[in-house]
Amino acid sequence: MTNSIKLFDTPLKISEVPYFESKHRRVSAAMIAQKEVGSISNCLACHSNALLGDFHGTYVPNYGKIDD
Ligand code: HEC
Repeated sequence: MTNSIKLFDTPLKISEVPYFESKHRRVSAAMIAQKEVGSISNCLACHSNALLGDFHGTYVPNYGKIDD
């Protein structure tokens, strides 16, 4: 993942990391704006198993299960 970051171009936000961006292309502004989510930094809203280190089986509130 860090290989995709150019030297002297270190992103300050995880949402600007190329790997993160490519994984979240299907996430729309409307999905994030919902009261259940609020921010792309609210990982747990969509990744309920994130505390277990599991980011698969993503469930976006009101949109349902989304898989790659
Ligand atoms: C609005 C909902 C939403 C939020 C908030 C969100 N994600 Fe995701 N995430 C997704 C979707 C949809 C996918 C693509 C489907 C999938 O891979 O399960 C995804 C994919 C991923 C993947 C790749 C999983 C894979 O199967 O390859 C990782 C890692 C990930 N997200 C981490 C994060 C982290 C860390 C945060 C918080 C900083 C976050 N996500 C916030 C919806 C979200």
